[in-house]
Amino acid sequence: MYKAVCITGFGGPEVLSVMHKEGRRPGPSELRLRVLSCGVNPIDTKIREGTNFVCKLREGMPFPWGLGFDVAGVVLEAGADSGYQAGDEVLGIAGSPADPCGYAEEAVIPSAMCISVPPSFDIYEAGALPTAGLTAVSIIKLLPKDAKRVLIAGGTGGVGHLLAQYLKHEGRYVALTCSQKNLEFAKTLGADAVYDYTEELPQELLKGFDAVIDMPGGKTGIGLYRYVKDQGTLVTVPTITGDEVIAAAERGIKAVLVRAGKTPKTFAELERYAKAGIRPFVAAKVRLEEAAQAHELLRKAHLPGKIVLTA
Ligand SMILES: NC(=O)c1ccc[n+]([C@@H]2O[C@H](COP(=O)([O-])OP(=O)(O)OC[C@H]3O[C@@H](n4cnc5c(N)ncnc54)[C@H](OP(=O)(O)O)[C@@H]3O)[C@@H](O)[C@H]2O)c1
Repeated sequence: MYKAVCITGFGGPEVLSVMHKEGRRPGPSELRLRVLSCGVNPIDTKIREGTNFVCKLREGMPFPWGLGFDVAGVVLEAGADSGYQAGDEVLGIAGSPADPCGYAEEAVIPSAMCISVPPSFDIYEAGALPTAGLTAVSIIKLLPKDAKRVLIAGGTGGVGHLLAQYLKHEGRYVALTCSQKNLEFAKTLGADAVYDYTEELPQELLKGFDAVIDMPGGKTGIGLYRYVKDQGTLVTVPTITGDEVIAAAERGIKAVLVRAGKTPKTFAELERYAKAGIRPFVAAKVRLEEAAQAHELLRKAHLPGKIVLTA
């Protein structure tokens, strides 16, 4: 038996509940992991609230539901065709979109959905990487090669702080916005310019970027069109208001929604950036049993980088 944090219904952090689950043996291409850290993502809080598309996929299925996509840990048992062995450290994606299961002491995951923990990472950085890193990689795939000047609105959060570093590694000009409290952190990411999002951006930035990446979505996302050059690209990241932002496209701007790619190709890209020394920043480590506190922090504390659960 192992501990897992599940939701007992839709609602606030109080619906997160510690349960005990029966472990299972991995199939030939699977790994059974002792999970040591698990990244907390906004999608987890949206599933908990019942507002994410994942909830539609699971409509009618009885609670409790598992939660959490990101895991890092040690292989307890490796399937014969998995390419890994007991004792290996891996990071990856736990469960399917309709059935996440990362908030747990154990998880069985497909070996195609993970990579070895890069040598320069500690296990908490490893748990922080999967969803945010795969999303950042998928955003870059949507950008034209000649998009030299990129603005990231929300550039110090989970996705943004990795994307900023990946884009700088690719040699692009990167400007980003964040709240005032994160301005100093933003400078450590190597960005060429940083702006406080509570203030109007300078007039000279209007139509000033080949590509703009929208992390906040909604009205803020729609307002970001003003900073995209004619014929430029706007990538909107939050699915929850993505269609709304895309519908507002004008001046020939290409507006697209990203979906975090979970394929061998995107994992390979993630590995490439990790080997180049780019690591996620872990702002807080919270015990698995205190997952409710982690959800409160994610929503209210405006921490830079990532929050991870430790199991
Ligand atoms: N489509 C997909 O496949 C996919 C994948 C991953 C994530 N997402 C979604 O993308 C969004 C970002 O994810 P994340 O993990 O980076 O979230 P996060 O860690 O919570 O970061 C959110 C970022 O947005 C900033 N922000 C908040 N209000 C803002 C505003 N008015 N203007 C500009 N920036 C603002 C925050 O800055 P401060 O902290 O400084 O306030 C922070 O940098 C979430 O909605 C998430 O659900 C979608």
